[in-house]
Amino acid sequence: ACKYPRYHPIQLSDRTWPNQRISRAPIWCAVDLRDGNQALLEPMDVAQKQRLFDLLVKLGFKEIEVGFPSASQPDFDFVRQLIEQNRIPDDVTIQVLTQAREHLIARTYEALHGVKRAVVHVYNSTSTVQREQVFQQDKAGIRDMAVQGARWVREYAAQNPATEWIFQYSPESFSGTEPDYAVEVCNAVLDEWQPSASQRCIINLPATVEMTTPNVFADQVEYVCRHIRYREHIDISIHTHNDRGCAVAAAELALLAGADRIEGTLLGNGERTGNMDLVTMAMNLYSQGIDPELNLADADEIIRTVEACTQLPVHPRHPWVGELVFTAFSGSHQDAINKCLQRRQSDDELWQVAYLPIDPTDLGRDYQAVIRVNSQSGKGGAAFILQREYDLHLPRYLQLALSPLVQQAAERAGGELRGEHIHACLQASFGAT
Ligand code: KIV
Ligand code: ZN
Repeated sequence: ACKYPRYHPIQLSDRTWPNQRISRAPIWCAVDLRDGNQALLEPMDVAQKQRLFDLLVKLGFKEIEVGFPSASQPDFDFVRQLIEQNRIPDDVTIQVLTQAREHLIARTYEALHGVKRAVVHVYNSTSTVQREQVFQQDKAGIRDMAVQGARWVREYAAQNPATEWIFQYSPESFSGTEPDYAVEVCNAVLDEWQPSASQRCIINLPATVEMTTPNVFADQVEYVCRHIRYREHIDISIHTHNDRGCAVAAAELALLAGADRIEGTLLGNGERTGNMDLVTMAMNLYSQGIDPELNLADADEIIRTVEACTQLPVHPRHPWVGELVFTAFSGSHQDAINKCLQRRQSDDELWQVAYLPIDPTDLGRDYQAVIRVNSQSGKGGAAFILQREYDLHLPRYLQLALSPLVQQAAERAGGELRGEHIHACLQASFGAT
C-alpha cells in the first residue's frame, strides 16, 4: 500500500510498464560533514559542523559521515565533541573516513575512543588512471594496499572491543575501475573482515568522477552485486558525484541494480559539481508515493542551515526546494494551476495539479507563492490574486480588459507586480471596487 496516497507513480498504460520501479527508501548516509566539507573554500568550524549534524539528525539520517579526523584537526575535535558531550542519539551511527595507512588508521581510532558504535571507512584508489599515473602500481600492488588497510582497521578495532564497529571499504574511483578487478579487491578486503550477522560490513562504490551515462554505472554496480562474496552479510552502498549532472539518476539506477545504501549531501554540496543530492532523491521517491523515511517538511530550514554552514547559495530553481520552484509566471500555467486548485475538494484526495508535481505545503511552502504576475502573465494570474487577496471575483469580460493593463504596468515596472499594484490598476481603470 502506498504510504502517501496523494502521490503515485505515473501509469501511462494498463500494461505493466516499466517493469522495474524503486519500491522503498535506501539506507541513507549523509556525507556533508566530510565530502561536502572538504570541497568548501572555507571548511566548517566545529560549531558549524555541530549545527549541520543536528539538522541531519532532525531530518532522520541514521548514518552520518562526520569527518576525516586523521587529516584535519577540526574534524578530530568535532568527533571528540560528539563523543564526550554525548551528542550522538542512540539510533544514529557516525562514520569517519581514513586512508589505508597505519598511522592514519591509528589516529582515527584515537578520535573514536569511547564511541558506542561507529563505521570506520577505509579507502584506496583502484582505477586504471590512479594505478598507472598516480600510484604507479600494478593490480596486485593496489589490491595489497586495500587488504593491508583492512587488516589494520580490524586489528585496531579489536583493541577497542567495547565499541560496536562496522567496517566500510571504498574502492575509490570505482567508476573508472574494471568491474572484475573491483570485485577482486572488494572480495580480498571482505576475506580480511569476515562479514557475518555480528560483523556488519559495507562496500561503498563511488563514482568519484562521474564518467558515464547512469545506466553504465548501474551495470558496474550490478556486476559487483552479482559477483561479490558474503552478499547476505554486506550492504552495497553507492556514492555518486555530479560531474555529468546525473548523480541522482545514477543513484536511482544503482538502487534498481541492487544497491542497498546511498551516500550524498543535502542539496548536493561536494567536490567539483557536487555529491548526489539527498533532498532531490528523497523528494523524487516521495513524489512517487514512496516514504523516503526522512522528514523534509521544512525546506526553508534546510536551505537556511546549509547556506549558513557552507556559505554557498541555493539556486532558486534547485529541484523541489528552490525559491521559484512553486511559482508560475506564465499565463497559461497560472490558469491551469488555478483551475486544478479550485476543483480540489479535500486535502486527502490524489494530488492532480498541472505544473505542480507535489503540494508545496509538503515542503513547508504555501500557495501564496504559486501565482505571481509579471509582463508574461495572462488574465488568470491577476484574477487569482485579486480573488485571493481582495476577495474580488472578476467577471470574464473584466478579466480580459484588465489583463493588458496589468501586462503594461508590469513592463513599466520591469518585474513582478504585487497584489496592491494589480488592485491599483483595476481601480485606476475601472473605478472603485
Ligand atoms: O568520491 C569518493 O570517491 C569519495 C570516497 C573517499 C568515498 O569521497
Ligand atoms: Zn566523494
